[in-house]
Amino acid sequence: MGITFNSEKRIFKLDTSSSSYILKIGRGGYMMGLYYGARLDECDVDYLTVREGHDSTVPLSASAEDDWRFSPDTMQAEYPAYGSGDFRISAVKIKNAAGNSVTDCRYEGHRIYKGKEPIPGMPSTRGSDGEAETLEIMCRDVTGAGITLIYTVFENHPVMTRRAVIKNGADSPLWVERAFSAAVDFTHPEFRLLHLWGCWGRERAVERRPLGHGITKISSGRGASGHYHNPFAALLAPGCSEESGEAYGFNLVYSGNFSIETEVDAFGLTRIIAGINPEGFSWKLDPGEEFYTPEAVMVYSDHGEGGMSRALHKFYREHLLEREWLKTPRPVVVNNWEATYFGFDTEKLVAIAKEAAGLGLDMLVVDDGWFGKRNDDRSSLGDWTVNEEKLPGGLSELAKRVNALGLGLGVWFEPEMVSRDSDLFRAHPDWCIHTEGRDMSIARHQYVLDLSRQEVRDYIVDSLSVVLSSANIEYVKWDFNRNLTEYSSALLPADRQGELFHRYVLGLYSVIGRLKAKFPDVLFEGCASGGGRYDPAMLSFFPQYWTSDDTDPIERIKIQYGTSLAYPACTMSCHVSASPNHQTGRKTPFKTRGDVAAAGVFGYELDLTALSERERDDVKRQVAEYKARRHIVMEGDLYRLVPPDGDIAAWMYVTPDKTEALFTYVRIKTMIAPVSFVKLRGLDPDRVYIDENGVRRLGSTLMRAGLNMTGNRRDAESVTMYFRAE
Ligand code: GLA
Repeated sequence: MGITFNSEKRIFKLDTSSSSYILKIGRGGYMMGLYYGARLDECDVDYLTVREGHDSTVPLSASAEDDWRFSPDTMQAEYPAYGSGDFRISAVKIKNAAGNSVTDCRYEGHRIYKGKEPIPGMPSTRGSDGEAETLEIMCRDVTGAGITLIYTVFENHPVMTRRAVIKNGADSPLWVERAFSAAVDFTHPEFRLLHLWGCWGRERAVERRPLGHGITKISSGRGASGHYHNPFAALLAPGCSEESGEAYGFNLVYSGNFSIETEVDAFGLTRIIAGINPEGFSWKLDPGEEFYTPEAVMVYSDHGEGGMSRALHKFYREHLLEREWLKTPRPVVVNNWEATYFGFDTEKLVAIAKEAAGLGLDMLVVDDGWFGKRNDDRSSLGDWTVNEEKLPGGLSELAKRVNALGLGLGVWFEPEMVSRDSDLFRAHPDWCIHTEGRDMSIARHQYVLDLSRQEVRDYIVDSLSVVLSSANIEYVKWDFNRNLTEYSSALLPADRQGELFHRYVLGLYSVIGRLKAKFPDVLFEGCASGGGRYDPAMLSFFPQYWTSDDTDPIERIKIQYGTSLAYPACTMSCHVSASPNHQTGRKTPFKTRGDVAAAGVFGYELDLTALSERERDDVKRQVAEYKARRHIVMEGDLYRLVPPDGDIAAWMYVTPDKTEALFTYVRIKTMIAPVSFVKLRGLDPDRVYIDENGVRRLGSTLMRAGLNMTGNRRDAESVTMYFRAE
């Protein structure tokens, strides 16, 4: 299988479907990385070690034996420790009872086993004994801290995962100050960094830039992985493009403060580390206690960014997302948020549902405003009792009427929050995250509940359970609309306040896990002011995620493009909304809104009762077409043909057996008579494909000569083409 150990050379070789990762136990027990890249056929690549000290500014290891000297500051460290001669960014830093944080990480032993173990209290990817193999390397610091590095390789994917466990083997407390999930030292400095930045309504914009010398940090300190940076980054080797060249992707299965840091040093090594953000973090370990880092997913591609994305998509479909929801077609929903905002009642919702049923949709999702006295965003979060003035007879009456139309019912919650104006806040003002004696920052009139507290977690589980048991609710939209501030917890002792951020995330996982176990048939959709907190950990609970509050299709092309760098289409919730768009004011054709939304999990976010006859026909057609073709998008391979940086954008999905393909082309900005050819990708060159007009062409022609898309098209006009192999 994938992991071998050469005991003579003391070298480990970790092979995935197309990559090798090689590391060795160096003299003195230092763990050294030797190689990460395209698969190698031999493990004896010790000659790749960089071990010379260059001048007196670079310390040499004092403990290395005899005449053998090397410098931790120039070696490829496997898990660089703080304070022992490696001045670059460190992966581990543990403060000891003496008050210093000098840390060292030396080999003690290892074990290799089939499969993969879950992380206590945290989501991670799965791998059965036949699919994955794991290596654990046990290291130790002189203080007694045990540091176990855990690697899993997957036989059918160019993917490996990494994480670490820190155990206090001393007899006094230790404080973990840095504990990254993965660290890799590459032996050249010329990478470009690709990362996903953004804000509300503009999530996951793509930036590629040379790393340059020094430290670069992509991170969140907001308590959530967030809108501003996604816990994903890739190092692009020189010459890497969409379909060729080497790309190394790093993604954290984590929803809290994260950090992906790179450092290019003076000698030409590039270090990348990925894990929990050390800023504001300190975790006390009493003797015998363990700390688990989240998991980092590492993907290698020698087919450019496109190959990297396709590999991640496939890996997440097979090893992260809930299997059940991959097989079950997702409901095509109508969500009432942009249709009514807070101004709805049962009659209005039933009227929308009636239209939805006639047009072939599957579910009505009641968004914000059904509970407490919430008629705007100023109150009632935390008071999860139905507003009977709006919904007489409650959700059960609504569910009955909606179900009678043949539709399911979904409901919005924002479980982690409490409004200042709420019964919950009045009863338990200390349940929110705040710092005694300081003003509390407020955002959208709400505070964040302290999920590190058991009674708060129980309240959320109990109050949501009451609602979910009260009616036939088949879908939950789980929202999260503000970040954490004045970070302290009323219950944690002073020397554990630095644990709050991570305890919050663990609390969140526990609450969602408990609710999902109680309501296993409910489909949970994630949301965080749109697509904040869109990360693999959330996706392990929420098979789909509201991609962005910006539903303008032109903006959405960019957002979905950026999202697709790491995350598969089957996770992207995308809705057709009204024109002019509520966020941008842009007018776009109904067809384009449909074509762009059909690149993910499709639905509507508009008042179906206000459609023209023509638009109703459009919806009917869109829904029917989507249902007939969605397997291509949900399970297929994505090819990003033209990135949305200029006047056009184009992409296509191809089924794994290459028998069906769906191509979408959008003229973002009009131009008179532009010549426009787009080469398809991913088809079988030797097969004949037939399009909806009966035109037959060889796959090789479509890929080498392309489609002729020349023609006058107005702003935001789109074309889709379906191809089937004969
Ligand atoms: C957030 C979500 C929206 C909607 C509103 C309701 O902004 O992203 O989709 O649910 O909250 O308040």
